[in-house]
Amino acid sequence: MAEAATLHDAFLDELRDAYDAEKQLTKALTKLAKASSNPKLRQAFESHLAETQQQIERLEQVFESLDETVRGKHCDGIAGIIEEGKSIMEEDFDETTMDACLIAAGQRAEHYEMAAYGTLVAWARAMGHTEAAKLLQQTLDEEKAADKKLSSLAEGGINQRAADDAHRDEEQEPVGSAPGSGRKSASSARPGRR
Ligand SMILES: [Fe+2]
Ligand SMILES: [Fe+2]
Repeated sequence: MAEAATLHDAFLDELRDAYDAEKQLTKALTKLAKASSNPKLRQAFESHLAETQQQIERLEQVFESLDETVRGKHCDGIAGIIEEGKSIMEEDFDETTMDACLIAAGQRAEHYEMAAYGTLVAWARAMGHTEAAKLLQQTLDEEKAADKKLSSLAEGGINQRAADDAHRDEEQEPVGSAPGSGRKSASSARPGRR
């Protein structure tokens, strides 16, 4: 019987997964940037694309530090997240609503990466792979910063403008009249809101 695989094997497997995920994300970030209307949002996706390209090189350095050949393994998780993002881009939203949805799609990817790199850093440290841990931590920090940047753009106006567009009718009409719409009034839809 073959020997049971170790945490080191699982670590290499996760690294290959991350390597493939970053490659998938370079294409996805290009699309997210192109689909963005808000110039700051487009800029955020473009600058994270540049970081992602560096992250791919950084992973290559991680493989080297472990004397392993550079290799990717298809990452189904990020493929699913990217697929969902693609269907959002096919929807017929106004520009600001689309921007809010692109942020949501981008943040799903960042959180997936944060989970993956968080594990990789912890495992590298536990096994004493100091150089790998240092490199992976740099990438984890970049993923967290990218996520924060998207939150600040969403909360800095994009969400509110999209929300105002969504509820414009209700604000102008007395509650209850709801002309030509089957939507709930603003007051009944969100009891906990203001
Ligand atoms: Fe990344
Ligand atoms: Fe990322």
